[in-house]
Amino acid sequence: MKKLTIAIDGHASTGKSSIAKELAVSLGYTYINSGSMYRAVTLYAVENNLMDLIDNNIDQFINLLNNNKIHFKFNKNLISEIFLNDRNIENEIKSLKVSQKVSVVAAIPKIRKEMVKLQRNIDRNKGIVMDGRDIGSVVFPDADLKLFLTASPEVRAKRRYNEMVDSGEKVEFHEVLENITYRDNLDSTRKDSPLIIQKDAVVIDNSFLSIEDQLLKISSLIKEKLNN
Ligand code: C5P
Repeated sequence: MKKLTIAIDGHASTGKSSIAKELAVSLGYTYINSGSMYRAVTLYAVENNLMDLIDNNIDQFINLLNNNKIHFKFNKNLISEIFLNDRNIENEIKSLKVSQKVSVVAAIPKIRKEMVKLQRNIDRNKGIVMDGRDIGSVVFPDADLKLFLTASPEVRAKRRYNEMVDSGEKVEFHEVLENITYRDNLDSTRKDSPLIIQKDAVVIDNSFLSIEDQLLKISSLIKEKLNN
């Protein structure tokens, strides 16, 4: 059967990764969360006090970064989890500390170039679902299916806030809402690979849609692509 490349872009905290994971598992495709790669770079910079180096000498930062390995491993549920060298950083990268810096780091062209290289190196022959901000526009402009997810900022902040509280992080709702609107703004206005809606993308506003509703809609789009 034909194997598709599915690109899921959209605003912050629109549930892209939950949808992408479900799709990948049901199709037996590889799932890659590209945002976790930018988060991994940010975690590396924050933990090693390298945020100033990013501003002052980006080439030196890239050299240091390239001595490390950002990669994915599949867990027992066949979901990919991100590693920095031998360390599983799946939880650390989701902290507000990382969320507050990631969009500044992700706006830097030399950092994007490195991440896009890694993303394009992933084997697409087995089928892939990748979510992010520039997947349909830059990483895989030839993707078979492009989705753009959005929802109202308040709905997104509420979902994210609940997730963070459930995972034990101490945060205030207003901090989460501010972070979401701040990232959307930076991601949409940066010069390199801004978040845009591609002409051939299907836009899904999921403010009032359950994951099941969205999966139904997307599954019928996938069926169409597979039958073409
Ligand atoms: O997807 P997630 O919200 O975890 O992504 C974190 C941040 O990484 C985004 O706000 C954006 O700044 C950056 N990002 C990006 N390009 C991607 C994926 C994420 O610039 N393809």
